[in-house]
Amino acid sequence: MYKIVKAEQLADKIYLMDVEAPRVARACEPGEFVIVKMDEAGERIPLTICDYDRETGIVTIVFQVVGASTQKMASLKAGDSFRDFVGPLGRPSEFVGEDLETLKNKKMLFVAGGVGTAPVYPQVKWLRNHGIDADVIVGAKTKELLILEDQMRAVAGNLYVTTDDGSYVRKGMVTDVVKDLVQNQGRHYDVCVAIGPMIMMKFVCLLTKELNIPTIVSMNPIMVDGTGMCGACRLTVGGQVKFACVDGPEFDGHQVNFDEAMKRQQMYKTEEGRAMLKLKEGDTHHGGCGNCGND
Ligand code: NAD
Ligand code: FES
Repeated sequence: MYKIVKAEQLADKIYLMDVEAPRVARACEPGEFVIVKMDEAGERIPLTICDYDRETGIVTIVFQVVGASTQKMASLKAGDSFRDFVGPLGRPSEFVGEDLETLKNKKMLFVAGGVGTAPVYPQVKWLRNHGIDADVIVGAKTKELLILEDQMRAVAGNLYVTTDDGSYVRKGMVTDVVKDLVQNQGRHYDVCVAIGPMIMMKFVCLLTKELNIPTIVSMNPIMVDGTGMCGACRLTVGGQVKFACVDGPEFDGHQVNFDEAMKRQQMYKTEEGRAMLKLKEGDTHHGGCGNCGND
């Protein structure tokens, strides 16, 4: 069992939990995810890691209520436990494996949208801990939905906050801030990391392609079971079939076919849609990830 030591509501339908999971905390890196299960019969829920402390063995997760399972999860309190807390899963963010001196010469821009701010945080914190200051844009629909602002400010080089409705700091979407920084303020970025809703990542990628900034995205939103078995997270990257949970979750955003991924995501929600995908794609996992030996 994995004890919840802190449970906090960050905003409407957005919750943070600190969980005692020492083995995950010791091994995890930014970009990776965990699968949580509330009880034996519970749904497996994949969640990107928001923070970890190797000393105390605490892993922080942030989640949004989107259905019955996450609604039930939101009612858990400090002292309650998860039945399973499996991880770390997926591949760490690419920069974690890069030569530090090369990395120090790169100017990085992070674009975080809504709940996507949570998985951006450990990446920016990792960079700060390694002597690298990254610029961060955080976008939220409205002031009340902005999360982790103080935490992000503490680890970012420059933090730019924007709200769709202008209720806090400035009005506009994250893409408006990217344009402003690059086109009006003449900032140069070697790489952009965009994490948030699919539609945001699609539009950030369209813009950064124009601006010639290589861009990484996290395809966590299309994952369902997170095990490579359900086929939900199948996507096309540079013309090749990939699975977000085994090959990602991070990919070269300029190579991702977002329209197809978003269409599949919608279809996967219904039994009829899943049957249609199976008809069109076969048993979607087999042969796709390159990790299972086509078994
Ligand atoms: P949201 O809808 O409130 O959007 C957040 C910000 O994204 C907006 O404030 C805006 O600045 C930007 N944005 C949205 N649409 C845009 C567009 N068309 N063009 C440019 N910018 C745009 O976000 P939310 O409700 O917090 O997001 C929830 C979604 O985030 C869920 O679908 C969830 O799956 C996803 N999510 C993704 C990750 C990940 O790893 N990629 C992690 C957590 C959550
Ligand atoms: Fe099911 Fe990746 S989430 S195959």
